[in-house]
Amino acid sequence: MPQHSKLIVVANRLPASRTGKGPSARWERSPGGLVSAMEPVLAERGGVWIGWDGGAGPAPRPATVGSLDLRAVGLSRSEVNEYYHGFCNTTLWPLYHDAVINPEFHRSWWDPYLAVNKRFALASARSYRKGSLVWVHDYQLQMVPKLLRDRKPGAKIGFFLHIPFPPDELFAWIPWRSAILRGLLGADVIAFQTQASAENFVRVAKRYTSAEGTERELSFEGRSIRVKACPISIATSEFEKTAALPAVKRRAAEIRKQLAGRTVLLGVDRLDYTKGIPLRLLAYEELLKERTLSANKVVMLQVAVPSREVVPGYEETRREVEQTVGRINGENSQPGKVAVHYFRRSLAREELVAYYLAADVMLVTPLRDGMNLVAKEYVACRSDNTGVLVLSEFAGAARELRRALLVNPRDLETMKKTIVEAVRMKKEDQRMRMAMLRSNVRRHDVHDWSREFLEALAQ
Ligand code: ADP
Ligand code: G6P
Repeated sequence: MPQHSKLIVVANRLPASRTGKGPSARWERSPGGLVSAMEPVLAERGGVWIGWDGGAGPAPRPATVGSLDLRAVGLSRSEVNEYYHGFCNTTLWPLYHDAVINPEFHRSWWDPYLAVNKRFALASARSYRKGSLVWVHDYQLQMVPKLLRDRKPGAKIGFFLHIPFPPDELFAWIPWRSAILRGLLGADVIAFQTQASAENFVRVAKRYTSAEGTERELSFEGRSIRVKACPISIATSEFEKTAALPAVKRRAAEIRKQLAGRTVLLGVDRLDYTKGIPLRLLAYEELLKERTLSANKVVMLQVAVPSREVVPGYEETRREVEQTVGRINGENSQPGKVAVHYFRRSLAREELVAYYLAADVMLVTPLRDGMNLVAKEYVACRSDNTGVLVLSEFAGAARELRRALLVNPRDLETMKKTIVEAVRMKKEDQRMRMAMLRSNVRRHDVHDWSREFLEALAQ
């Protein structure tokens, strides 16, 4: 891609979010895979990042951090409720994740969704200069490509969906389905995490709009739109470097010592119902109860970063996780040998990597996930090729990380068998699998992903 062309990233979240109010307000790193992926890309290339700062009220002033310009878009209190908590996270999020909980449809949420998308489109148009590449991200901003195209007909606009695109049977539920598709079709390039999502999109675009064409290229209202599968990845070499730091290795050894040298099972997720944390705990609980595993010899750590706490489904998931952890510990822990350690907080990068290094088995068992970067991060950190990744078939990452132990998280018996297989796997077998997994995340990192997307857009 030509380095001089200016990059404008448009994503609901800025890389840092404001939490708390008034004098106690603080800036914190925004949660989730989108920010984890885009941060290293923009740190390398520079550009403008248009997003929301996580608060309610007028937008803070633009800020420059290194070669990155941050432009905040403000949301009112009611827009935070109706656009962000409502349409984005109570309608679209569950629906796009296989309707794992019931999505809600409220007519009063559609106009705020449109109004906020318009504001993002206006902010993008303001930053736009001839030759800019505009890269719009994720389900919160599906109307932006069209709304920006109306203002800047000649602009190069790309869209990437970080979460799955659902099959027709689910997408058809949305009362505003044609409008959403017309919104997306304002882009020149539309990319998805997997080929299955790309195919789902093409099918519904042809069914509910006048778009015509093939799996790779659609024509719509006289324009041509390329459709791609472009799986996201991580900043592999940065994780490798962090994992090689003596202080991080020392910290990992310390964590293992504190856990009394037991076999360590680890889960790291946003506290979200799509991540399958309760079923994972249940599988572990049954293994302890049946005495297939013993808390004398194994320990589980679950690190969960708080997320969207007022949105339906999240509080319930938190309660379920906390009750299950309490029950498991009540029945299985001994002094100095707690069966499950549960941390409900975000960890700093080096601390997170120390946990990846300390873990013998990584449990990534979402019910549905666009990609899942945690799986790739764990693999990148395992430079001695030991460790076992247990990975849900329903994470986009399972398409690439074929040498993980793949599981259906709803099949509790197989989950249990797979966890036992992971705990007992011989080092030789671990090394063979991990070496192949690692070559995958080295071959295709987040910089390759962004290059591939931007090259397609620049064409
Ligand atoms: P999602 O995008 O749904 O949150 P991903 O697995 O793709 O899921 O991305 C999650 C990102 O958030 C990863 O980069 C991971 O390192 C980070 N993360 C998740 N949990 C924590 C935590 N407790 N502390 C710090 N970072 C976390
Ligand atoms: C996922 C979504 C992102 C979102 C992130 C964190 O990664 O794909 O768009 O930013 O979760 O969620 P939040 O609602 O806190 O932005």
